[in-house]
Amino acid sequence: MMKIAPSLLSCDFTELKEEVRKLEAAGVDYLHFDVMDGRFVPNISFGLPVLQQLRKITDLTIDSHLMIEEPEKYVEAFAEAGSDIITVHVESTRHLHRVIQQIRSTGRKAGVTLNPGTNIQQLIPVLSDVDLVLVMTVNPGFGGQSFIAKMVDKIKFLDNYRTQHKLNFEVEVDGGVNSETAVLCRAAGADVLVAGSYFFKHTDYAEPTAILRGE
Ligand code: DX5
Ligand code: ZN
Repeated sequence: MMKIAPSLLSCDFTELKEEVRKLEAAGVDYLHFDVMDGRFVPNISFGLPVLQQLRKITDLTIDSHLMIEEPEKYVEAFAEAGSDIITVHVESTRHLHRVIQQIRSTGRKAGVTLNPGTNIQQLIPVLSDVDLVLVMTVNPGFGGQSFIAKMVDKIKFLDNYRTQHKLNFEVEVDGGVNSETAVLCRAAGADVLVAGSYFFKHTDYAEPTAILRGE
């Protein structure tokens, strides 16, 4: 079944605990935690202190998406603060393979991701070393942007590649996911859909969860 990962960037931060309870009740799979540093992306979001508190109130899988320069400086801190999955951008580090090893050595799952303008070929050298590949379908930095349909080719490529090479990383899609674009992602072979603005405009979170799963 398609996994659903609501992006907390679009939730009501004044009611974070209540939001998490509603997400648990809706049966979502991951909490997608978008970390932005104002350098790798032109926006600043939230970081370690919020993650530590979030970890105390839920057992849901926390899927941290690090949109930060030099993620190698912070991997241990994000593991320690409670991330279950730590995803880094290929564009953010000189030593992608080393950062993946570093994530693995914390015992957390390692993910890798790429901007829309980056060729998927750049990830090939690490595909056998990751648990998850995140396909960005918007330029990272903001919620509420439009899905870049051309990125569906990357989802298809990854789905074929893992079959051919007998790998079992998950393929996650992030940016502009809604009831319509989710159809394209599912058909292309995605396993996990991140959704922020579309998801949180609902009041009953079971609704977008079912719709995005195609139920
Ligand atoms: C974009 C973030 C996304 C974002 C998705 O930089 O990585 O996770 O919150 O938001 P929507 O679903 O509104 O595009
Ligand atoms: Zn994200």
